[in-house]
Amino acid sequence: MKLKSTSAIILIITFFVIVHYSQNKSKDQKKDIAQKVDSVLSLMTLDEKIGQLNQYNDDWQATGPITLDGDKENQILNGKVGSILNCMGAERTKSWQKIAMQSRLKIPLLFGQDVVHGYKTTFPIPLAESCSWDLEAVELSARISATEASASGIHWTFAPMVDIARDPRWGRVMEGAGEDTYLASKIAYARVKGFQGDKPGAINSLMACAKHFAAYGAAIGGRDYNSVDMSDRLLWEIYLPPFKAALDAGVATFMTSFNDINGVPSTANSYLLRDILKEKWGFEGFVVSDWGSVGEMIRHGNVKNEYEAARAAITAGCDMDMESRCYINNLEALVHDGKVPIALIDDAVKRILRKKFEIGLFDDPFRFCNSEREKKELNNPYHPAVARDMARKSIVLLKNENNLLPLSKDIKTIAFIGPLVKELKQNKGFWDVDVPGVDSNFIVSQWEGLKNKVGDKTNLLYAKGCDIEGENKNGFAEAIKIAEQADVIILSIGERRDMSGEAKSRSNLNIPGVQEDLLKELLTTGKPIVVLINTGRPLVFNFTVDNAQAVLYTWWLGSEAGNAIADLLFGDYNPSAKLTMTFPLSVGQIPIYYNHFNTGRPALNDEDRFYRSAYTDLSIYPKFEFGYGLSYTSFQYSELHLSKHKMKHDEKIEVSVTITNTGKYAGEEVVQLYLRDVVGSIARPVKELKDFKKIKLEPGESKTITFTIDSEKLSFYNQKLEWVAEPGEFELIIGASSRDIRLSDHFELVE
Ligand code: BGC
Repeated sequence: MKLKSTSAIILIITFFVIVHYSQNKSKDQKKDIAQKVDSVLSLMTLDEKIGQLNQYNDDWQATGPITLDGDKENQILNGKVGSILNCMGAERTKSWQKIAMQSRLKIPLLFGQDVVHGYKTTFPIPLAESCSWDLEAVELSARISATEASASGIHWTFAPMVDIARDPRWGRVMEGAGEDTYLASKIAYARVKGFQGDKPGAINSLMACAKHFAAYGAAIGGRDYNSVDMSDRLLWEIYLPPFKAALDAGVATFMTSFNDINGVPSTANSYLLRDILKEKWGFEGFVVSDWGSVGEMIRHGNVKNEYEAARAAITAGCDMDMESRCYINNLEALVHDGKVPIALIDDAVKRILRKKFEIGLFDDPFRFCNSEREKKELNNPYHPAVARDMARKSIVLLKNENNLLPLSKDIKTIAFIGPLVKELKQNKGFWDVDVPGVDSNFIVSQWEGLKNKVGDKTNLLYAKGCDIEGENKNGFAEAIKIAEQADVIILSIGERRDMSGEAKSRSNLNIPGVQEDLLKELLTTGKPIVVLINTGRPLVFNFTVDNAQAVLYTWWLGSEAGNAIADLLFGDYNPSAKLTMTFPLSVGQIPIYYNHFNTGRPALNDEDRFYRSAYTDLSIYPKFEFGYGLSYTSFQYSELHLSKHKMKHDEKIEVSVTITNTGKYAGEEVVQLYLRDVVGSIARPVKELKDFKKIKLEPGESKTITFTIDSEKLSFYNQKLEWVAEPGEFELIIGASSRDIRLSDHFELVE
């Protein structure tokens, strides 16, 4: 007994010594880096300092309007470039770095790239991944993307995009984690951890970038780059928390957004960049502009020319200028004219140099450009297996009438029809990376995936039927012909991959072309039909949902799309994903999201909707709500228990609930906990997600899970924008979605 307690004491002491040692070590490292940064800075001319704030695109690939000036080499030699984007590959990055090493101070270049959902291995688009509600899987996806990209000479990814998106007309919803702030913040945290790993500078890590700061997702009318009209409340409560979560995860950089907020473009928004980010939140990394956004302020109309644009951006706290050339062309004059204090430039340079030191570039500028490692990591056989698993976890089962799915592997004849069946690159979605030297068709097509799955006994027939767009119905006859011979039809339709993404806003969210007409024709055969919807955003496809027997929302799933889809179709994986955006009934219903406020005249159901805050010609409900998604099995929720029904501010309530798998298949369920602050000093949303758990259950198995309610979960910004939990009654809601409420109770926060 005595021995046991002695060893426990030794263990505790050792633990504290280690914690103390590592805290001191990291303090020492910080001090050490700060000293090195200061000594480099003291050697720099003003020209060289401004060079560090300048980022150019490489000459060969662009993700924005490019300026090919043919003079990059010279400028790097003269210390006028701090970073290059869209430069990939161990050899290519090495060749630019070699030039930087011939500059007077030999300050290494930073190579940045949009590694948004994979590098060589493409993972599902981020919105799809968010539907997994699986934070470990999401982190692993980012980890592998970082492993590949960092082996290819890249230091820095312009990801994660953490913009909350409530409007599916906005094409960039595909890049984020949906409409909910709580879930998106968890995902932001996981993605930053995944990209960056545990400590800065690991050889298989990338620096991450939280973008686009801020409120870009609130673009009016869902039109990309549009203005944002934003209250402080909405900004703090809905749009900022995922950025704060990224910061808490240690994100190295932030990117400004293209939009203005209440008239001030983010790139010159000192309230956002200085007051909130750098001062209130104490962010020590650096801020990069979005592509050309410094110069674009001239068109916004808040500055007259590039000179003023550079002044406004650097003053507000934007440290690096991506491709607008306003800094490189104007900062020197601005300093000489006394319009920009040198201290501002020094601060920005120090932030950038610090990161270059942290990731070890001053020790070895070529440490990320190793062709051998690149070859090994880009061909790592583990990566496609992870991509397949992530893809399976991202597919949402929307409908499964009469349990048509999963299909039996003994089916005699399947007609696999549609314009996306044999496509390769389409499966990658927007923001994939064309890695130099890698065949961009390194994809398992949906056809291939099905063929791999069914084996020789099944007769697999194919017809394209129609194109994604256009009016041509010439292929319908062939599609009907093979459909008539089949036991089941699988129809793969949707958007083209570049119909969602940057600058891809749409006013019409229907499935394009004649694809739904093709479905109409196929329905006349009377054969059961499974529809796969491939897309980057919530679409409006009521005819399909109302008429096909089964619908899988596959999004864009990446390199392993075909295998993942086949796994679901045949029950080798039981669908477990749930929507992270509300799916509208029609475009006219947008914006629609689950955590809205009530009104004084709320419509409570469809019978009640006239003269209420609802449309007279539309249901009050969306087509599919936030949190919705089916499984091949069913789950029963029971025994909701609260450890107490009154809590004080410093207390907690333990909530337990039992989930039972009542179906035939093993499966996973995302159990969602929502809260409603019944009476607040200001009106509160009808419900807000505050926790969730994803659990796996065998048929017949039950598990009891617990959640903890603390005052943090009850807090909100009051009228003075103070973060407070107000005493009073709260409704606790346990749901299988935001609408499918299974259990509820009430509790009280007391003084
Ligand atoms: C996008 C950013 C992206 C940048 C660099 C911009 O157009 O808005 O998200 O990181 O280009 O490619």
